[in-house]
Amino acid sequence: MVSLKIVEESNSRLAKAGEGLVAVFLGATSGIGKATLREFVLHANKPRVYIVARNASTITAQVDDLRQANPGGQFEVIEKNVSLIADANAVAATILARESKVDLLFLSVGFFSLDGRQGYTIEGLEASMTTRYYSRIRITQLLLPLLNAAPQARVVSVLAGGREARINENDFALSEPRSFGVTAGNNHVTTMMTLSLEHLAFENPRVSFVHTFPGGESADNEKFLRELRERKVGDAVWSHTQEVFARIK
Ligand SMILES: NC(=O)c1ccc[n+]([C@@H]2O[C@H](COP(=O)([O-])OP(=O)(O)OC[C@H]3O[C@@H](n4cnc5c(N)ncnc54)[C@H](OP(=O)(O)O)[C@@H]3O)[C@@H](O)[C@H]2O)c1
Repeated sequence: MVSLKIVEESNSRLAKAGEGLVAVFLGATSGIGKATLREFVLHANKPRVYIVARNASTITAQVDDLRQANPGGQFEVIEKNVSLIADANAVAATILARESKVDLLFLSVGFFSLDGRQGYTIEGLEASMTTRYYSRIRITQLLLPLLNAAPQARVVSVLAGGREARINENDFALSEPRSFGVTAGNNHVTTMMTLSLEHLAFENPRVSFVHTFPGGESADNEKFLRELRERKVGDAVWSHTQEVFARIK
C-alpha cells in the first residue's frame, strides 16, 4: 500500500498544477468519492468542480463546507441519477457546454447488489451494473474531447481493479436472471471495466486511466487478462457497450 506520506506529498503538488483545474465527481456524496473530493478541493488552486448527485438538497452542507475550504473554487451540483445512461448523457452534455477541458474525472458511483438482481431500469439494464459500469464508461467516452484537451488528464474509476475474474461472454449485460449473483456480478463488472478502460487508454494515449480497488491486495491477474486480450474479448465488450449506448438517447 502507498504510504500516507507519499499520498500527502502528492496531494500537496496539486497546488502547483496551476489555477482552474476542472474536476468532475460521480459518487462524491459519500465514502471514497466524498473524501477524495475534499482533499482535492483543499489543495487545488481555484478549481471548478462538478458534483453529480441524485438529490442536490442532500449535499447542501457538504457543498458549503467545500466553499469554506476553498473560497476561490467554483462548485456546481448536477442533479442526475446515473443509474440511467440517459442521465449520464445529460451530465456530459452540461459539462461539454461549459468547459473546454477536464483535468480529473473521478468515478466512485454505484452500489453492490447484495441480494442479486435488483431489477431493470426503464432502459432495460440492471441498475447496479449501470452505475458501476455503463454510466461511468459513457461519461468518460463523451468527455474524451475535454480530457484530451487537458495537459495531464486523469480518469480514476474506483471499483475493483486487480480483482478481474470470470466474465460471462454469452451475456455481457447479465440480462439472464441466472447470469446474475453477487460474486458473478462483481467479477464480471470488474473485468468489463478493465477491458473498456484498456480500450479507451489505447485510443487516448495522452489521458491516464486508473482502475483501482479500495481494499485488499491486487492479485496477479495478468495471466487471466492476457488470455482475454489474445481472444479479443475486450473488442467484444466494447462492441456490446456501444450497442447499448446506441439504443439509449
Ligand atoms: N468501500 C469499500 O470498502 C469498497 C470495496 C470494494 C469496492 N468498492 C467500490 O468502490 C466504489 C466506491 O465505494 P464507496 O464505499 O465510496 O461507495 P459509497 O459510499 O457507497 O458511495 C456510492 C455513491 O454512489 C451513489 N449511488 C449509490 N446507489 C446509487 C444509485 N442507485 N444510483 C445512483 N447513484 C447511486 C451514492 O450517491 P447517493 O448519495 O445518491 O446515494 C454515493 O455517492 C463503489 O463502486 C464500490 O462498489 C468499495
